[in-house]
Amino acid sequence: MAIALPSNDGTVAREITPELRAMQRRIRDLVAQKNAVILAHIYQRGEVQAVADFIGDSLNLSREAASTKADIIVFCGVHFMAETAKLLSPNKLVLLPDMKAGCGMADMITGDQAREFKASHPGRPLVSYVNTFAEVKAESDICCTSTNAARVVQSLPDREVLFAPDRFLAAWVQKHTPDKKIIAFNGYCPTHFVIKPSMVEARKKLSPDALVLAHPECSPEVLEMADYVGSTQGLMDYAGKSDRREFIILTESGLLLRLRELYPEKRFVSIAPCPHCPYMKFVELEKVLACLENESNPIEIPTSIMLRARTSIERMMAVV
Ligand code: 13P
Ligand code: SF4
Repeated sequence: MAIALPSNDGTVAREITPELRAMQRRIRDLVAQKNAVILAHIYQRGEVQAVADFIGDSLNLSREAASTKADIIVFCGVHFMAETAKLLSPNKLVLLPDMKAGCGMADMITGDQAREFKASHPGRPLVSYVNTFAEVKAESDICCTSTNAARVVQSLPDREVLFAPDRFLAAWVQKHTPDKKIIAFNGYCPTHFVIKPSMVEARKKLSPDALVLAHPECSPEVLEMADYVGSTQGLMDYAGKSDRREFIILTESGLLLRLRELYPEKRFVSIAPCPHCPYMKFVELEKVLACLENESNPIEIPTSIMLRARTSIERMMAVV
């Protein structure tokens, strides 16, 4: 297995060898033979993004999964994303290259905890961030992603709304829905949690003309320092449209790779150390090839939770 090393600019880089190119070609051949599609999250490794049919944030990946005509979806992302794809396309084979690709935030709330959270605040609807297990989605009234969280909360008739698991995204949504009262669960993303205001300060000293773009999974103190806050796709769109040349990116390292590829004339830098999501990086090219070849690691969701979990995702898609 080839080793991926953090490069000196903070992203996870892998040398493009002839063997690696051959593996990428083999993957693309199999995609065509099997009528498959490869969906990749923006936080994926560069060489994995390079074999994808579609690269996007969690909302756009859900849309792709719901509308694809392919028979097989190879999901290069984390487990909750592949599960969401399965909820939206239950008759398709959805494969996750490595079942260890979980999520530190999704691990923070179980179905039982979601039930307890609701029971301790009776009569309030539960909005769950898509970064949860299907079992939690099944307990939720509606889901949201970082793109549409405020719109989803606003769409509810209730004034008081439960929000799980991300307390930082909840605080961000609260700021944008002042007529609501959001009661947040106590979760967070470990990858964004480590981004501290002092790191942003240090980077700003080095790049005084750069705009600061942040993901809403960062803490409120960090978001205060940002010129723009948005989902991974939102940050990409903003950077593309902006007439500024330099940007400090406050999210996972995969976005830097994507931004540099899309906008080579602009400069994108991170804080030190550059944040990596270890779960996203479990997906490697060898595993993509193996799961396509063997049709291994299928996502399965128990029928007892499938319908309810799907309903909360479909309600979200209807708001969007
Ligand atoms: P988005 O892709 O919705 O911005 O979410 C980022 C994320 O948490 C992926 O784990
Ligand atoms: Fe989960 Fe955070 Fe990784 Fe996203 S970046 S998959 S929220 S641990």
